[in-house]
Amino acid sequence: QPQKVLVCGGAGYIGSHMVRALMRAGHLPVVFDNLSTGHLESIGQAEFVRGDLLDMQALRRVFGEYCFDAVMHFSAKSLVGESVVHPALYYTNNVTGTCNLLEAMRESGVGRLVFSSTAAVYGDPQAPVIAEDHPCLPVNPYGRSKLMVETMLADHAAAYGLRSVSLRYFNAAGADEDGGIGEAHSPETHLLPNVLLAALGRNDGLKIFGDDYTTPDGTCVRDYIHVTDLCSAHLAALEYMTLHAGAAVFNLGNGNGFSVREILDAACRVTGVDIPFTVEGRRAGDPPMLVADAARARTALGWTPVYTDIDRIIETAWRWHSDQRY
Ligand code: UFG
Repeated sequence: QPQKVLVCGGAGYIGSHMVRALMRAGHLPVVFDNLSTGHLESIGQAEFVRGDLLDMQALRRVFGEYCFDAVMHFSAKSLVGESVVHPALYYTNNVTGTCNLLEAMRESGVGRLVFSSTAAVYGDPQAPVIAEDHPCLPVNPYGRSKLMVETMLADHAAAYGLRSVSLRYFNAAGADEDGGIGEAHSPETHLLPNVLLAALGRNDGLKIFGDDYTTPDGTCVRDYIHVTDLCSAHLAALEYMTLHAGAAVFNLGNGNGFSVREILDAACRVTGVDIPFTVEGRRAGDPPMLVADAARARTALGWTPVYTDIDRIIETAWRWHSDQRY
């Protein structure tokens, strides 16, 4: 059954992959994006409405114009380091923006939402792998802003019957294999793009932020999950909400941790370049280790990530990055 889906933040890195996945699955996405970080050319033939979640009138207009079955919400500020320096930006965009979206949904009777949450809600977990019932004690304003939204969604389920699925992404990586879209932020702060830009000689080499963490090689460990696998989980979440009421929460990760040094080594293998790097001080807000137990998503959503090999994930990103003319 084709669904009309409002994709907030559909011009961004993960959102634009989702728009493509929705269209491939026969759904009808409408992108709502303020283009603050997104790229209009990445949404292909999808319908587009330029607008901001902080603009209630623009939101009411889009909900008045279309009859949506569901909303997917990717619009957010999402940089851990920036959130420590500019927390107001995070609370306004991520929390107030989502309050507005929920209000517009309520007014127009749209009762299903897939929300982009994050592993940052767990803070600095002590367990080697984290399941959803692990305590949520975020260590930066970004993680706190996302946890506030998850809390709002639980309250909206209880009071208004809103159905939602919050997907706690671990580290999104890679690019669609059919090409044309990838991860491009300006300035770039994410590890994998920065490693690949270093391989291309387009920055001053990779800066490793801290090698004195309590991890096997002293650099931070993360669980990298391919953007295409994130998208298949969102499609499954749409189905899930047709059967299940309430506010569900699922981790999305591969369950394998890779240190910054291991990512650098893998990128050297994939690119064939001896990538230059320096070791710098720690970046504020970074927890040492985040690795997912995603068993709940596998069972409840019937989700199986396809890109389980880190070299393959990096290859898809490399193919896109090395194709860019900058
Ligand atoms: N890193 C470097 N050098 C760089 C960039 C990053 O050493 O140039 C390190 C970071 O310090 C961190 C790791 O590589 O230890 C990963 O950093 P990213 O910036 O790529 O990703 P984060 O783990 O900080 O955050 C990402 C998303 C968040 C999400 C989080 C969940 O940006 O939105 O994953 O794990 F919450």
